[in-house]
Amino acid sequence: MEKTKLPEIISSLPGPKAKEVIEKDSLFTSPSYTRGYPLVAEEARGAIVKDPDGNLFLDFAAGIAVCSTGHCHPEVVAAIKSQAEKLIHISGTDFYYPIQADVAEKIAKMVGKTKKKRVFFGNSGAEAVECAIKLAKYYTGKKRFIAFFGSFHGRTTGSLSLTASKTIQKERFFPLMEGVTHVPYANCYRCPFGQKYGSCKMECLSFIENVIFKTVVPPSEVAAIFFEPIQGEGGYVVPPREFVEGLREICDKHRILLVADEVQSGCGRTGKFLAIEHFGIEADIVCLAKGIASGLPLSAVVADENIMSWPPGSHASTFGGNPVALKACEATLKLLEKELMKNAKEQGDYLLAGLKEMMNRHKVIGDVRGIGLMIGVELVKDKTSKERFTELRDRVEVECFYRGLLVLGCGANTIRLCPPLIIDRTQADYAMKIIDESILAAVDFLKGEKRTSIII
Ligand SMILES: Cc1ncc(COP(=O)(O)O)c(C=O)c1O
Repeated sequence: MEKTKLPEIISSLPGPKAKEVIEKDSLFTSPSYTRGYPLVAEEARGAIVKDPDGNLFLDFAAGIAVCSTGHCHPEVVAAIKSQAEKLIHISGTDFYYPIQADVAEKIAKMVGKTKKKRVFFGNSGAEAVECAIKLAKYYTGKKRFIAFFGSFHGRTTGSLSLTASKTIQKERFFPLMEGVTHVPYANCYRCPFGQKYGSCKMECLSFIENVIFKTVVPPSEVAAIFFEPIQGEGGYVVPPREFVEGLREICDKHRILLVADEVQSGCGRTGKFLAIEHFGIEADIVCLAKGIASGLPLSAVVADENIMSWPPGSHASTFGGNPVALKACEATLKLLEKELMKNAKEQGDYLLAGLKEMMNRHKVIGDVRGIGLMIGVELVKDKTSKERFTELRDRVEVECFYRGLLVLGCGANTIRLCPPLIIDRTQADYAMKIIDESILAAVDFLKGEKRTSIII
């Protein structure tokens, strides 16, 4: 597989061997998983995934924005192997090991441009968010939070309380953590206040000050505002700079902590280590996971030294900061700094320009937006009414799969492109070609024509 760059479909999909896996899986795994199409992965290198029937797929999903350095990058694999032969686990909660101190120093310095930071290691995005909730409560002594409609912060009880993405994620799980107030995010394509960016008065910010803080919750009781600098599951929504700056001002004015959930947008995906850097401000607490260790489970919460000042026993995790995951993280960070953040910007700019051009040719593409390799393509029934075209988005994912491209959806009607940060120009061009064809095929499919897909 080493030199393969482009997809190649050689069987029906799913092929016979893939079908066997799917059948067994459907008997024994939790039915709560959401599978949009039947990909079975057997091995993967770079941006190419091979299924058990020998089909090759170009991966623009990266295991939900995780495999930042590509699948099985040789430097990451070497780091994992060498650490696995030396020390797999000892628990950083109770003991010390060099790689934990080394990676903490490295991340603290990458995030802390102006202030000294400390780092808490966990295993998943939701765990990072749980840690940030507890830290904000501990440090401020306050118990209430502001979060945004459309946000996704995880599925554990605390993080789920901040999430406001899809009600299926909450159905039958109430009561959750109390004290969270949700407010509209700055989605300029669908301004919740009916305004237009450029002529608006940033009503999304004044709503917090003038409505929420005057009628719902006093700012003096708010521990933190949790936000995604680019909304991920909510539809890859990029807010205007003024919004992020305004949140910082509100937090400073009322002594509220600003928590940037960079679980999806962080670790180089946008061309900078943190997405918030594009907005020129710093958060008080940053949550990282997904792309941080190229696929090994690891998360990091990074906070100002004075904020992360809780005593021993107040928070810990048996597996958090596992040595093997940390070695993978160290190798990942090196690759990001060496070349991958630069590549994310270059390929991201190229894809964004190509997809914007595609938007002019397709009536159903309402918006194309993103930074670096975090790009959303929003599908609508009509560009004026902007009615969401969810069925089309779902079908485009399937048509892409039949043509050998792996993409995921986000929000109700957006295709998300979050490939490994190693993709090259040929792969970007090929992905755009497949997306173009898949949109046409999906439109025809929904019209009932079931136009040829190259496979079925
Ligand atoms: C912004 C954000 N926060 C938190 C999470 C939860 O991460 P995990 O699934 O690793 O718990 C996600 C997952 O998609 C996310 O996108």
